[in-house]
Amino acid sequence: MLRLALIGITGRMGRVVAELAAAAPDIELVAGLVSPSRDLAEASRLLPRTVRLTHDLSELVSGVDVVIDFSRPEVTADAALAAADSGVAFVSGTTGLRESEFAAIRQAATSIPVVHATNFSIGTAVLLRIVPEVARVLTRWDCEVMERHHRQKRDAPSGTALTLARAVAAARAANTSFVYGRGPGTATRQPGELGIHAIRAGGEIGRHTLLFASDEEGIEITHWAQSRRAYAAGALEAARRLVGRPPGLYQFTDLLFEV
Ligand SMILES: NC(=O)c1ccc[n+]([C@@H]2O[C@H](COP(=O)([O-])OP(=O)(O)OC[C@H]3O[C@@H](n4cnc5c(N)ncnc54)[C@H](OP(=O)(O)O)[C@@H]3O)[C@@H](O)[C@H]2O)c1
Repeated sequence: MLRLALIGITGRMGRVVAELAAAAPDIELVAGLVSPSRDLAEASRLLPRTVRLTHDLSELVSGVDVVIDFSRPEVTADAALAAADSGVAFVSGTTGLRESEFAAIRQAATSIPVVHATNFSIGTAVLLRIVPEVARVLTRWDCEVMERHHRQKRDAPSGTALTLARAVAAARAANTSFVYGRGPGTATRQPGELGIHAIRAGGEIGRHTLLFASDEEGIEITHWAQSRRAYAAGALEAARRLVGRPPGLYQFTDLLFEV
């Protein structure tokens, strides 16, 4: 049985991870981190009684095998280091991380196994496998990334849009510069540009389109999530595949597709 601690347990993603963990025969959700602004008793009304709720990271990670984190970047950095102090595997899906927060994740990965992914859906993992191949063939075609999310999303562009854009840039020999949205000054496409466009509207869970176009034709590849379960199931699968591995920073796609 995998003993799980959850960060962001009261959030949109955390609640779905908790629901799927409760239904999984091989996972036991034992602890959850509650934000300082929220009362523990109030949070406990949302969750099964068996889950130990705390405001304290070192208490959260004690006696568990793995932590799953869907929260805020500043929480993720501290949580990664707390997991490392306790020798607990760390799975994070939090997006919008700055360089200092990535540095904390890399530091943690020197002593524990860690996976950070901007998108834990299987469909996006497959997309990330094929994008370099497409981008390498269509080097002369224009490329733009478009994403749509619900109105409450805190970061823009999405982590997944950036991951896709970086995958295209890495696959192309020539230098690529990112343009965030288009407006006065960036209306006309310059050579080597890759435009990234974010839309925030309604309850859209997450939709990403990669557009490749020449003067004569075009290709659009779109992934969309029908439910947050797509991400939650992937994060739980990442946890199963991560625990017991040597320290290191693992890619979700590698964990998923290895034989
Ligand atoms: N990788 C993926 O597949 C994937 C998929 C979807 C979303 N995401 C990312 O996951 C993150 C969470 O998304 P969401 O939609 O679930 O957001 P959300 O509903 O706002 O949930 C955020 C959670 O973090 C908690 N939190 C905030 N500050 C905290 C603190 N100082 N200490 C402890 N907990 C704190 C919140 O607690 P309160 O409820 O008390 O505020 C809440 O439980 C975002 O970065 C989002 O982009 C990733």
